[in-house]
Amino acid sequence: MTKTLLVTGGCGFIGTNFIRYLLAKAPEVRIINLDKLTYAGNLANLADVCGNSRYRFIHGDICDAVLVERLFAEENPDALVHFAAESHVDRSIYGPEAFVQTNVVGTFVLLEAARNAWLGASAKDSARRFLHVSTDEVYGSLGPSGYFTEATPYDPRSPYSASKASADHLVSAYFHTYGLPAIITNCSNNYGPFQFPEKLMPLIINNALNGRELPVYGDGRNVRDWLYVEDHCAALRTVLSKGVPGETYNIGGHNEKQNIEIVTTICDLLDEMAPPLSAGRPRTTLIRFVTDRPGHDRRYAIDAGKIRRELGWRPQTSFQEGLRRTISWYLANDAWLKGVLDGTYQEYYETLYGGR
Ligand code: NAD
Ligand code: TYD
Repeated sequence: MTKTLLVTGGCGFIGTNFIRYLLAKAPEVRIINLDKLTYAGNLANLADVCGNSRYRFIHGDICDAVLVERLFAEENPDALVHFAAESHVDRSIYGPEAFVQTNVVGTFVLLEAARNAWLGASAKDSARRFLHVSTDEVYGSLGPSGYFTEATPYDPRSPYSASKASADHLVSAYFHTYGLPAIITNCSNNYGPFQFPEKLMPLIINNALNGRELPVYGDGRNVRDWLYVEDHCAALRTVLSKGVPGETYNIGGHNEKQNIEIVTTICDLLDEMAPPLSAGRPRTTLIRFVTDRPGHDRRYAIDAGKIRRELGWRPQTSFQEGLRRTISWYLANDAWLKGVLDGTYQEYYETLYGGR
C-alpha cells in the first residue's frame, strides 16, 4: 500500500539525503516536499528525481498556515517528517529572529494542521506519525564525561538550540494534550553529501581545497559526536515504522572527535585525494585558531542505547569510510559547491570571519 509522506525542508542537507534514500529503498512511499528554498535549500539537489511519479515538490513556507492546511487536505499524508529549520548556530547568534519564526512558529503551524487533519472524528488513525527531527543541542553542554540520554534535562544555550527546544516542547505538548501521534528524535552532528559549506566539515573542505585559511574556534578542543547522514536517514526510517508515539529517541554515532582532529584529518585526506597546494604545502599549515564562538558548547555525546535496544538501529558507517565518502562527493561535485558559493555566501563569510 502506498504511503504518503509530507517532508518539510527536503531541499536542505539531511532532507535531501532522506528523500533520495527513501526513493531508492522504500518503493511503497510517495513524498511531498515542502521547502521555502532559503539560502540552505537547493532545488538542484533533487533535480534528477523531479520527474519521479513518487515525488512532488511544493515551494512554500511552513509558517504559511493556509498553504500547509491545503496540503494536508489535498495530499492526506500518512506521516509528516519535519526537517525544515534554520539550522546554523553561528547565524542564530547574529540573527535569532528567523530561528524563532521558522523553528518555533513554523512547527506550531504544522502541529495545528496535523491536529485539525488527523484528529477529526473520521480521520482518527493511529498509523499517522508526526516525526519531529531535532538535535542533541537542546540538552546543553557536557563536561569531559557522561552522555545525553532521553532523560537528560533540556538546557539549550544558543538561540538555535533554544528555538529547537521550544519546538520540541510544543510537539510533546500536542502529544500529551491532543493525543497527536508525535515522535521526537534528537540527533548528533551529521556529515555527508549536500551539506552547506557554513558547517564545520564542508567549510573546511572548501577552504582547504582552495588554499584558504581554516578557522578553528577557541582552542579547537570542543567535542562533537559525528554521524554519517545516511545512518541518520536509516534511523528516521526505523523510527517512522517502529517508533512509539510520545517517545523520544536519541540518535548518535558513538564517534566523539575534537574539532582540531576533524580539521587535521580532512587536511591529510585532501593532501592524499586532491591536487596538491602550491609547492606541495601541507594543508594543515592553513589552520588558524580564531576567536571562539560566544556560548560555545564544549562537548556533545549521545547515548543511543534506547533506539538500539528498542528499535534495533545502529550506525553502519565507520568514521574513516564516511569521511572518505564525504570528501569524494565534494571533489566530484565541484559545480554544486560553486553553485552555492554565491555573493550572499561571501557576505556571510565576511561578517562571520572577517574581523576574527
Ligand atoms: P539545512 O539548513 O541544511 O536545511 C534546512 C532546509 O529547510 C532548507 O532546505 C531550507 O530551505 C528549509 N527551510 C528553512 N526555513 C523554511 C521554512 N520556513 N519553510 C519551509 N522550508 C524551510 O538543515 P539540515 O542540516 O538539513 O537539518 C535538518 C533538520 O535536522 C533541522 O531541523 C535541524 O535542526 C535538524 N538536525 C540537524 C543536524 C545536523 O547536523 N545538520 C543534527 C541534528 C538535527
Ligand atoms: P557546526 O558545524 O557549526 O555544528 P554545531 O555548532 O551545530 O555543532 O560546528 C561544529 C563544531 O566546529 C563546533 O564546535 C564549532 C566548530 N567550528 C569551528 O571551529 N570553525 C568553524 O568555522 C565552524 C563553522 C565550526
